[in-house]
Amino acid sequence: MRGALCESAAMPFADDVRAGLTALPKTLPSRYFYDQLGSAIFEAITLLPEYYLTRAETEILTAHADEIIANAQPSRLIELGSGSAQKTRYLIEAGLRRQPNLDYSSIDISQTVLAATANALRAQYAGLTVNSYQGEYYDGLRALAQANSRPGETGHRALALFLGSNIGNFDPPEALRLLRAIRDVLRPGDALLLGADLKKNRATLEAAYDDAIGLTAAFNLNILARINRELRGRFDVRSFRHRAVYNEEHGRVEMHLVSTTDQVVAIDTLPLHVSFSEGESIHTESSYKFSRDDVEHLARNAGFELQYVWSDAEQRFACHLLRCV
Ligand code: AVI
Repeated sequence: MRGALCESAAMPFADDVRAGLTALPKTLPSRYFYDQLGSAIFEAITLLPEYYLTRAETEILTAHADEIIANAQPSRLIELGSGSAQKTRYLIEAGLRRQPNLDYSSIDISQTVLAATANALRAQYAGLTVNSYQGEYYDGLRALAQANSRPGETGHRALALFLGSNIGNFDPPEALRLLRAIRDVLRPGDALLLGADLKKNRATLEAAYDDAIGLTAAFNLNILARINRELRGRFDVRSFRHRAVYNEEHGRVEMHLVSTTDQVVAIDTLPLHVSFSEGESIHTESSYKFSRDDVEHLARNAGFELQYVWSDAEQRFACHLLRCV
């Protein structure tokens, strides 16, 4: 069973690596950062002084969880990309202060993380019922919609959570598609709490994605190491360097891996030979930054209305309460 799962899980990776490295300009999808090592590096990134996003969002949730819950009045929380649900605990606790019982459904790609988080939450909160859906967001939403199509539950409000500015890692058409899919599993009166990193000066943004001790560089380079591990790639990881740049025109921080030399890299499992010229880059991630108008526009197109915005004291990050219309 395990073997079958691994095999089917490896195929989209192989297909996406082939498609991305034969395209011009070369790309690799950022979702492949998150193998076991990449996920651990990302957890460490959230502790970096330069990476303000997690701290700013935690500041907002610490200060405003009760207000958010009072506005949304949920009896059910649905979280996309829950991870260890650290920040979610502020909302769970506020929800349980308002009423003795709460449902929490989480969707995450990692079964290990889901199981560990579900066990920890059940042990910590007696009034919480936890359901987990392992898979990509769309599959999880579909499974959740099926499980949720029970009649007679109309009196219960749901609050969906999409935190951490994870929405920023989707290009605008894909972000809209995902918000619409979230909207489709909700009912009028339900809401979505959307965490989004705000547009700001270049220096702050570029430092957040190119930290002094090189953790983000390791996070980026790990995708090449992953290709070596899982697809018998022959990347000399040391012959690529990390670059992070704020592309103001598109409102996104881009991460690239730049070849420091002319080289040809074999990937044995595919099989494929990829040529790089010196200075040529692989675009590995876009991290979009938002203005209030950007979020309002996106929300409206997806069938939501922007109702409240909470931000941190330095106005770096915002949590938006979007109401289903
Ligand atoms: C997960 N995501 C919101 C992070 C971001 O800020 O775009 C991923 C990340 N990339 C580099 N550092 C962190």
